Amino acid sequence: MTQIDPRALRNVLGCYATGVAIITTRSPSGEHVGVTVNSFSSVSLDPPLILFSLARTANVLATFQQATHFAVNMLGHEQQALSNMFAKPSTARFEAGSYTEGASGCALFGKSVAQLECKRASEVEGGDHVIFLGQVTDFHLRSATQPLLFYRGAYGTYARDQWSKVPPHDGTLSDFGVPGWG
Ligand SMILES: Cc1cc2nc3c(=O)[nH]c(=O)nc-3n(C[C@H](O)[C@H](O)[C@H](O)COP(=O)(O)O)c2cc1C
Repeated sequence: MTQIDPRALRNVLGCYATGVAIITTRSPSGEHVGVTVNSFSSVSLDPPLILFSLARTANVLATFQQATHFAVNMLGHEQQALSNMFAKPSTARFEAGSYTEGASGCALFGKSVAQLECKRASEVEGGDHVIFLGQVTDFHLRSATQPLLFYRGAYGTYARDQWSKVPPHDGTLSDFGVPGWG
């Protein structure tokens, strides 16, 4: 079998453009915790399941393993600084007024494109990462702002194909301009 160089593989995987999300939760003592990820993905509509994966080396791992709930903030292009803040260990991440709390108490950041509130459903082994599956308990479609995207190690945003139809921002999947979808 060909030897896979992790650095080279990372470069190849980085060719798959993604969104950027900050996943938040609370520690057993109630402290807010959050981490920037691009491994967020939808899994199932019925039941409503999503996933993200967290490095085993992440300081926040144990807190997510203990938590019953977490929230997904899908970032907008104005939240690049916030994304960077939650991509490095820091103690001053949750400034008063910079977030609200969802039903389960997890932090929700304004200017996010959309947010999901989730009950932690299960944890799956994923090599040097742990995969967290969450059951969506609530969601918020916030603004029609441009999303923050990540591609080949750099941030960007989305340019709509000029021939595509604009889907309505009403939370339905019924009017996507992609044949066979929705
Ligand atoms: C755009 C972007 C995407 C990231 N995606 C992930 C990810 O999916 N999983 C992960 O474990 N770390 C990811 N990271 C790195 C973490 O945000 C970073 O290692 C963070 O500091 C971990 O938190 P810690 O303070 O608990 O170690 C990403 C960073 C950036 C900038």
